Amino acid sequence: MPRVIALTGATGFIGAAVMHRLRSAGFRIRALYRANKTAPRDQDRSVKWIQGRLEDAGSLKRLLSGAEGLIHCAGVVRGAEWRQFKTVNTDGVARMVQAAKQMHPSPRFLLLSSLAAREPKLSYYAASKHLGEEILKAQGDGLEWTVLRPPAVYGPGDREIAPLLKLMCKGLAPQATPRSARFSMIYIDDLAEAIVALTEQTNWEGSIFELHDGRPGGYDWCEVVQTVSGVLERPIYRFRLPQLLIRSIAVLNQGAARVMGYAPMLSPGKVRELEHKDWTCDNNSIIKAAGWHPQTPLGAGIKKTLQYQRLT
Ligand SMILES: NC(=O)c1ccc[n+]([C@@H]2O[C@H](COP(=O)([O-])OP(=O)(O)OC[C@H]3O[C@@H](n4cnc5c(N)ncnc54)[C@H](OP(=O)(O)O)[C@@H]3O)[C@@H](O)[C@H]2O)c1
Repeated sequence: MPRVIALTGATGFIGAAVMHRLRSAGFRIRALYRANKTAPRDQDRSVKWIQGRLEDAGSLKRLLSGAEGLIHCAGVVRGAEWRQFKTVNTDGVARMVQAAKQMHPSPRFLLLSSLAAREPKLSYYAASKHLGEEILKAQGDGLEWTVLRPPAVYGPGDREIAPLLKLMCKGLAPQATPRSARFSMIYIDDLAEAIVALTEQTNWEGSIFELHDGRPGGYDWCEVVQTVSGVLERPIYRFRLPQLLIRSIAVLNQGAARVMGYAPMLSPGKVRELEHKDWTCDNNSIIKAAGWHPQTPLGAGIKKTLQYQRLT
């Protein structure tokens, strides 16, 4: 009998890649989708789409029915208000934990968190992801659980880093991070592979794993721009954006978003995340626990992403 995994966020960037990888590993999937969005067109027989949302506890129980494991990828990555992040990234985890505990047997619970959870004071996003982890730790008694904290994820389907890549293809690379800031990155397929590798492990001991693309110490912005320039085989002009300018735009953008009701990417919280100097992480624990190794160095991942976006 194929093993059944419940998956949230499968209509998003990371969840879609995880679903694809789970399918090729032979799992059957129960995937949550929201009614207010177009029903997913993917009618593959290994996927059963369950209509619902994190705010609806009944739909979460339907999602988990018969599943031996849950991969909880749904999350909010942009917003103007604390409430928007908390409802999904914190309260959503709480509802999922309660639903999982009511199942017999309870499914194993993999929470997709974020490196941002390490620095909850920086932004609403970071605080909401941190609290999501805390809820799983505090209320997940009786559940087998694990948490994965990816760094910046890029690849086909991403909407956050894609605009910067497009700009670089036009020869421009604005720098919003401090010169000394370093960050890890990971290509989407490597992240999906890590999630499946963890899913296939038998022992989950309430661990929190971080992971990156195989480059210890990560990158500074200059190294990323040089890599993209190497892939494009043309120069890219790098210039610093004055901090005061970025902060002012972020405040205005957040204000406009509150009035007009859209979810902004650039907010004061996002600027504080960008200004943070250490978003690097370590692969040792996940390699030991899951035998996973990243396969895609930055240059190769950028090349695939640009080809997908037809920018090369
Ligand atoms: N992208 C990154 O660089 C990155 C890095 C670290 C961690 N993460 C984490 O990875 C997860 C996925 O991020 P992503 O980049 O794939 O985001 P995304 O493309 O915006 O996808 C978000 C997913 O969550 C679903 N969702 C949001 N609110 C929901 C709700 N109330 N009920 C049910 N489903 C809901 C969305 O469904 P709809 O399609 O219906 O909107 C979508 O499937 C998030 O938890 C994020 O914190 C992302």
